[in-house]
Formats: sequence, structure tokens, C-alpha cells
Amino acid sequence: MPATRRPLSKGRSQKPVIAWDRKDLIGLQGVSAEQIRALLVASRARVDITTDVTDSPLAGTTIANLFFEDSTRTRTSFTNAAHRLRAHVSNLLGAFSSVTKGETLIDTARNVEAMGVHALVIRARQGGAAGLIAKNVRCPVVNAGDGRHEHPTQGLLDIYTLAEAKGRLNDFKLKGLTVAIVGDIVSSRVARSNIAGLTALGANVVCVGPAGLAPRSLESLAETGPGAGTVRVTHDFDRVLPEVDAVMMLRVQFERHADAAGKNSPSIASIREYRSFFGMTGARADQMKKGAIVMHPGPINRGLELDPEVADGPRSVILRQVTVGVGVRMAVLEACAAASA
Ligand code: CP
Repeated sequence: MPATRRPLSKGRSQKPVIAWDRKDLIGLQGVSAEQIRALLVASRARVDITTDVTDSPLAGTTIANLFFEDSTRTRTSFTNAAHRLRAHVSNLLGAFSSVTKGETLIDTARNVEAMGVHALVIRARQGGAAGLIAKNVRCPVVNAGDGRHEHPTQGLLDIYTLAEAKGRLNDFKLKGLTVAIVGDIVSSRVARSNIAGLTALGANVVCVGPAGLAPRSLESLAETGPGAGTVRVTHDFDRVLPEVDAVMMLRVQFERHADAAGKNSPSIASIREYRSFFGMTGARADQMKKGAIVMHPGPINRGLELDPEVADGPRSVILRQVTVGVGVRMAVLEACAAASA
């Protein structure tokens, strides 16, 4: 199913030239291209490994997943990453925690840290929650998605998967590539992390969606460092399809819209109309250029933003994104632990 993977070139260094220097990974916005590359280069040594890391600096430590919002991929991926690093994993799910009795997220995190935890992985409904917790604990904090703010490890694994498909694993320089991010962008922390990371590394981003979900203001999210790419907004998906190297479809997040009842949304006149203008159908996939890929962070609304024949078709790298995520999260856990030592 996934698009063809390009082989690793010989003689490439597995060690980053510049090391990640932050205790926490809260977001990719404002992070330099060099720092993002440090995490991606470190990920190369972890993606696709088939055995546990024998000399892991995290062996015997405990990583705590604090998930105050549902997750399939991210929580399992961080768990698998920690196990690969020979760390113990402790899982706290918000719905079964004392947060339901009124305990604050900060108190929850500090209590879990007090049990001898070496890193916290946080998912929360509130944008800014992971950063707030990071300021109130000593151990590293990795943001696993906070509200509409950021989902930095998803951004990193998406960028890694794109770089792999486009033969950019050697230097992670993305100049010359154009990525369309399509759909419910205002609701999307994944989009914010991707826009920051992709433009920092030189890719151009086209945000596509109805005006209520893809407002012009997204253009201000482009990073501004040397060699950074641009962001533009369009409401015409069919026009951009033949130009782009990758299309990143986003789930319509009805639960984050003002009218969360049923499948109504103040920004979508009708589901049928949305699909007709912004759904990735087989006919639209045929308009893409040779070698262009289709991505989705999951979970997918099959038949709404993405048709099954495309999700499971030859352009799809969706399950490859999931596989890459484990190695990327291993690298992030190691990098934050090393920076905080
Ligand atoms: N992509 C992603 O964050 O999926 P989950 O919500 O299942 O973790």
C-alpha cells in the first residue's frame, strides 16, 4: 500500500551535527531549522529498527503518558517507543483520573512526577496545557497534542515521511517541495506543527479549504528564518492538485466546532458539498503529478475528506506515517532526556 520507499544512501552520518538543546518539545513554531533537523537526523537511527536499543540511556527509567483526550496512534506509538528504549511506561487516562474530581492538570503532573517519573508525555484538550505543565515540573515534557495548538511529534513524523518519499533524508532540506494541507485547518494542531516545520525547512505550503476552515490569516504562520518557505491560502482544491508534491488531508473535527451536535458544523454547509469541493476522491488523486503522495494524520473520516480507494491506494503513505512515528518518538524522548541531563 505505501508509496515506494527510497533506500538510504551509504556513508550518511546517523549523528546530528547539532544536538537538540531543549528539555521539552512543546511545539515546532519558532524552533530553528537546525533544531528541527537535529530531531529528524536522530530519528533516522531509530526509524525501522527491529530490536530494542541495547545501549539506551532511558533503560530502566519510567515514561508517563498523561492523556486527557482520546488517542489511538499517539499513545500507542509513545508506548512502543518507550519500550524500544527499554523504559517502563505508566499510563494515566484523564477519564479515569482524579481530574474528574477537580484536580488540576499541574497538580496531576506534579504528583505523577513525584513518583519518580523521568519524562511526561501530555495530551490535553486545552491549547497551552503541555507548555504550562512543562513550566511546573523538572522532568522533560513532550506535547502529544494540546487543543488546537500543536502536535509536534506528528509534525516531525509527517515531515520525515515526506522527506523519505521525496529522497530528502540526507539533509532534510525541503526547498522546491510544495505541500497542500487540506480541510479543517483552523481546528488542527497537526496543521500548525506541519506549517511551522515544513516552512522552516524550506517547503512551501498551500492551505486549502472553505473560508471558515482555511482563513487567509493562516498565511501569517510561515516561519521567517533564512530559506524558509511560504504559506498561501486557496479555496480551489482542483487548481492546486497538479502542482503539489504531497497532499495532507485533515479530519473534519466536528467535535471542535461550535455546533458539535451530530455532524453539523457552522463552517460546512453540507457534508455532501464539502466532499464535492474538498474531498480527496479517486478522480482527484488522478490529477496529482507522478510521485505525489497522499498523507493523513488519522483518524480518517472515510468517505468524507478521504475516499477509501485513495486511503488504501498507491499514493497513500498513511500507514508509513504511523510506522515512522515510533522511531521519531524514540528520538524525541532521547533528545529531550539528553538535553535535560
Ligand atoms: N494522529 C493522531 O494524533 O492520532 P490519535 O488521536 O489517534 O493519537
